[in-house]
Order: sequence, then structure tokens, then C-alpha cells
Amino acid sequence: MAWCALRSRLLPLVAAPQLLRLLSSTAAQRHAHHRRRRLAPTVYAAAAAAVETPPRIARATRHPGGAASVARVYADANTHRPKEYWDYESLDIQWGEQDGYEVLRKLGRGKYSEVFEGFRPGSDERCVIKILKPVKKKKIKREIKILQNLYGGPNIVKLLDVVRDNESKTPSLIFEYVNNTDFKVLYPKLLDYDIRYYIYELLKALDYCHSRGIMHRDVKPHNIMIDHEKRQLCLIDWGLAEFYHPKMEYNARVASRCYKGPELLVDLLDYDYSLDLWSLGCMFAAMIFRVDPFFSGQDNYDQLVKITEVLGTEDFYSYLGKYGLQLDSQLERLVGRHNRKPWLMFVNSGNKHLASPEAIDLVDRLLRYDHQERPTAKETMAHPYFNPVRST
Ligand SMILES: Nc1ncnc2c1ncn2[C@@H]1O[C@H](COP(=O)(O)OP(=O)(O)O)[C@@H](O)[C@H]1O
Ligand SMILES: *[C@@H]1O[C@H](CO)[C@@H](O)[C@H](O)[C@H]1NC(C)=O
Ligand SMILES: *[C@@H]1O[C@H](CO)[C@@H](O)[C@H](O)[C@H]1NC(C)=O
Ligand SMILES: [Mg+2]
Repeated sequence: MAWCALRSRLLPLVAAPQLLRLLSSTAAQRHAHHRRRRLAPTVYAAAAAAVETPPRIARATRHPGGAASVARVYADANTHRPKEYWDYESLDIQWGEQDGYEVLRKLGRGKYSEVFEGFRPGSDERCVIKILKPVKKKKIKREIKILQNLYGGPNIVKLLDVVRDNESKTPSLIFEYVNNTDFKVLYPKLLDYDIRYYIYELLKALDYCHSRGIMHRDVKPHNIMIDHEKRQLCLIDWGLAEFYHPKMEYNARVASRCYKGPELLVDLLDYDYSLDLWSLGCMFAAMIFRVDPFFSGQDNYDQLVKITEVLGTEDFYSYLGKYGLQLDSQLERLVGRHNRKPWLMFVNSGNKHLASPEAIDLVDRLLRYDHQERPTAKETMAHPYFNPVRST
């Protein structure tokens, strides 16, 4: 296991008594069992959507003539697997047997959790304790099931245990610890080769999860842990990840604003794995052009405006046409008309060593409105940009 051995003295314990003993709960197990139901995949998606969705105004409407969209690869990844694999609602959570975990320090705080570095008494190995904020049990089961399905995959964070606090019944996920360097510190220091290397490592994780029928839906630097000393990358935060079923309609309220694909911003709901390639494209553009984030909208409408200001509106309207999408008139006014900007416009003396012709060719292929035009994770790995990585 890739845990870092704890050689230094332990940091003083944070005062968080309820965290000091996170014990298993048989009551929760019974409850989980009682709630087991059999539902069609579409019902799941709708219910999972309800977890995250307050009502909001429409951004675009889909005409009945618009072509339905199906993933170009791995479309039947779940169809070919037994129902237990994707039917996460029937997961019977096996709460851990251990006495508990102890907290060392706070690592981070996300929308859905508070995350601590910790350890298990009697062990020198460090771990991560992700204490989940109150969300629907369905969402918790989805995250756990996905982490279990992907366990051991390349550069996928390992879920080690699932525990619950005795009194509050707050569930926590226990992960392997990654000695991450904050991306705001690390990325500006990365050399051309490092960027090729880490993007390739990320693509391994993405091709793996996609091949197993799972879209991550929240790819961004905050969810990518890098131990630069060990040159180890780990894709974390599977809280928004979802099983892909062809023609299923998903929630558009996924991914973080700056990494949201056009499909999310125009409510094209039958999106697929290719969403992750857009998010990766945004990350990659920020790295090679040294502009972070690359598309920086003030809100979801402005996010689309920022994208069209770079990619132009001509391709945007053909994309809408292809899928029979009619943009809301107010949003159409906001978007206006823009010419496509040549990528070379973003190259300057500070980034020209990173923004090589191959890098720009790759950015251009990833950042396409039409999700079906984007290369898959596998195809991306075959791009000449990664030749130096593949040959070592
Ligand atoms: N395995 C890990 N190793 C190191 N840090 C982690 C690990 N998992 C999470 N973190 C830290 O905690 C933060 C929040 O975790 P994450 O799983 O992304 O939760 P959320 O769903 O709340 O965003 C991360 O951005 C990261 O800083
Ligand atoms: C937690 O619950 C278990 C059994 O449900 C019990 O044995 C244990 O003493 C409890 N621990 C605390 C700290 O309350
Ligand atoms: C964690 O990473 C930092 C910076 O890369 C390094 O200085 C430190 O020694 C590492 N800690 C461990 C426990 O590996
Ligand atoms: Mg996160």
C-alpha cells in the first residue's frame, strides 16, 4: 500500500472528541438493508439529481428532433456487468470493525465534507478521514460503490474503510494519504516534461474509470493529489461521480464552474465520459498557458460567455443545432457573437516553453464544444504530445 510511513513525531491531536472514536454501527447496516429497493437506472439518476438540485431557470431547450447522444466508447460498460456493480442503491454498507481513527490535522474542506489527516492507533501509516456533511444516503452509497468498483485502478485513490460516529451517526470515508503539494504552489514550478507526465498519469485514471462505466464529473486541480517527491498522482473525490448508462439524462449541476463543459452550461443532459476530457482540457490549458483558471466565469452564464469568447460563436451555434438545442433568448444576448481566437494568441515569453505546437494541438482537440468530437482518454494518451512520456 502506498502509504507514507510516519517517521516524524505525531502532531498534537486536534480537539475533536467525536472523531477520536469512529465506530461501526450495526443499526445503520439494518437501516441500509431495510431501504433496499429495485429501481430502473433512470429512477436512480432522477433521485440522485434531486440531492443536488434546487429549482432554476432553463438555459436551453431541446427540440424533439435533436439527436440523442451516446458515448463513443464504453457505452455498454455497465450493461455488460452484473446489476450489483452499478445498482449502488442496493449497496449494503459494511461498516468497519476497527476501534477508531485519530485525527492529526485538518487537510481541507469541500462542499460535501471536512477532511482530516489521521492514523489508526497501533499503526504508523497515515490516512485521510473524510467526514461527510449531511447528504442523502443515496449519494453516500454512490460514492462508496464507485470507490469500491475502482479500488486498485491506476492512480485512483484507495478507499480503505467506511466508519460511522456512534452518537451523531456521521459517516466518514477512510482513504490512503497522499502527501500533496498545493497545486497553486506546484503547477507554476512544473517543467514541460512534468506536465506531460502528470497529465498522462491523470489520463490513466480517467481511461480506467471510463472503461468501468464511471464518469468522474469533478476533474479539477483540487481533486488531483500529487506527491511530487514520489511523482505519484492520485485522482480523488468521487462524490459527484456517476455510472454511465446510454441515453440516460443526468444532472447538469456537476463539476466546478471553471471546469464545466458546454454540455452542462446548455443543459444537454445525455452527456457522458467526454465531460471529463473537457475538464481535463481546461486544466491542461491553464497549465501550458499559465493562466489559472483558463475559463473564469463569474457564474454559469458568464462561464459560457468566457468559453465562446475563446472558441467563437460559429462552432457554438452549430453545436446547438446538431443536438437540437435552442438557447434561452436572454442567454443568447449575453453570448453575442465572437470570432474564434487563435491559440497562438495565448502564447507569450512566460509560457512558450510549455505551449509547444503539440501541446496546442492537444488543447485544441480537447476543448471542443461538441463532446463527441473530443478525443477519448485512450485516444488522448496516444497523442504525440505524450511521446516523451511513453518512451521512458
Ligand atoms: N487522500 C488524500 N490525501 C491528501 N489530501 C486529501 C485526500 N483526500 C482529500 N484530501 C484533501 O481534502 C480536500 C477535500 O476532499 P474531497 O474528497 O475533494 O472532498 P469534497 O467532496 O468535500 O471536495 C481535497 O481537496 C484535499 O485537499
Ligand atoms: C459505541 O457503540 C458500541 C456498540 O454500538 C459500544 O460498544 C461502544 O461503547 C460505543 N462507544 C462510545 C464511545 O459510545
Ligand atoms: C511531503 O512533501 C514535502 C514536499 O514535497 C516534503 O518536503 C516532505 O518531506 C514530505 N513528507 C513526507 C512525510 O513524505
Ligand atoms: Mg473535492
